[in-house]
Amino acid sequence: MLLEVRDLQVEFRTRDGVAKAVNGVSYGVDAGETLAVLGESGSGKSVTAQAVMGILDMPPGRITGGEILFRGRDLLKLREEERRRVRGAEMAMIFQDALSALNPVLTVGDQLGEMFVVHRGMSRKDARAKAVELMDRVRIPAARERVRQYPHQFSGGMRQRIMIAMALALEPALIIADEPTTALDVTVQAQVMDLLAELRREYRMGLILITHDLGVVADVADRIAVMYAGRIVESAPVHDLYKAPAHPYTKGLLDSIPRLDQKGQELYAIKGLPPNLMNIPRGCAFHPRCPIARDLCRTDVPPLHKVTEVTEVTEPDVADRGSACHFWRECLHG
Ligand SMILES: Nc1ncnc2c1ncn2[C@@H]1O[C@H](COP(=O)(O)OP(=O)(O)O)[C@@H](O)[C@H]1O
Ligand code: SF4
Ligand SMILES: [Mg+2]
Repeated sequence: MLLEVRDLQVEFRTRDGVAKAVNGVSYGVDAGETLAVLGESGSGKSVTAQAVMGILDMPPGRITGGEILFRGRDLLKLREEERRRVRGAEMAMIFQDALSALNPVLTVGDQLGEMFVVHRGMSRKDARAKAVELMDRVRIPAARERVRQYPHQFSGGMRQRIMIAMALALEPALIIADEPTTALDVTVQAQVMDLLAELRREYRMGLILITHDLGVVADVADRIAVMYAGRIVESAPVHDLYKAPAHPYTKGLLDSIPRLDQKGQELYAIKGLPPNLMNIPRGCAFHPRCPIARDLCRTDVPPLHKVTEVTEVTEPDVADRGSACHFWRECLHG
């Protein structure tokens, strides 16, 4: 396994109290594999990713438990200097908002080139040639001319391609893309997703794709981990999860996939509000919103059950599915 997060716990201490943002998350991604991490806003997707990248806001954030194994080493035990090296060269992150992630006063060529000058010790001239090559690689038309332009001179989709190029520059083993297409319109979303999927295959990278939109990951992800209140509530190969969800929350998400004419909106079809992380409901955190909740759900936290049964619609060899629902069987067949 390239990356394995084990039982990660993160909290934020603020004046108002302690927000339990990540409460025992475990997930993994292999080289050449895409893991989609899905969940409503506030479910702890970004905080988990920031902990992996080592860019968590500490304080107020604090990692209170767990391990982050990357190529077998626990990143939480590395010294800051070594951590910085891993972050610079072996993993990279793509953010939703390219405009604020890129430097507005440097040309894109200078920013891309900088990666090669700093990390590879290249000359300015060679670095510039590499920048053009990368821009070609992410299919920015007329790269040779546009390498001299500034971020604001590019469209949203093109800027996102530049971010992808920056992330790819040092050929990292792992890329984490945090809502990389949320700000884009639907056609451009699909193009950027396709590009990411293609590059992931070509470079055999591990890719973690964070999104609140189940609609955009169906074609590119291998596995999906669904998060709720800082926990993974369902984890499954993508097609199995689509065909037969084993958790009522996943089912709700599937029922609320945005239509093509509604771009970039949060999901809102599941009734009720996301939980208050300073006061997470007892038992199953989803119980106040769950259509099939009963007494047990209000008292006992459901563990991540292994989903061992198959239905007519799932493959017979679906190992490795999990659902944190006491009544996953009912959900799977219902
Ligand atoms: N810098 C911060 N300071 C205080 N609380 C934070 C901070 N970042 C995240 N949180 C808390 O963690 C929760 C989960 O955040 P996040 O992982 O960003 O959610 P998402 O699933 O939308 O990416 C937030 O709702 C908030 O309560
Ligand atoms: S454990 Fe209970 S409340 Fe939680 S998702 Fe399952 S049925 Fe719903
Ligand atoms: Mg987020």
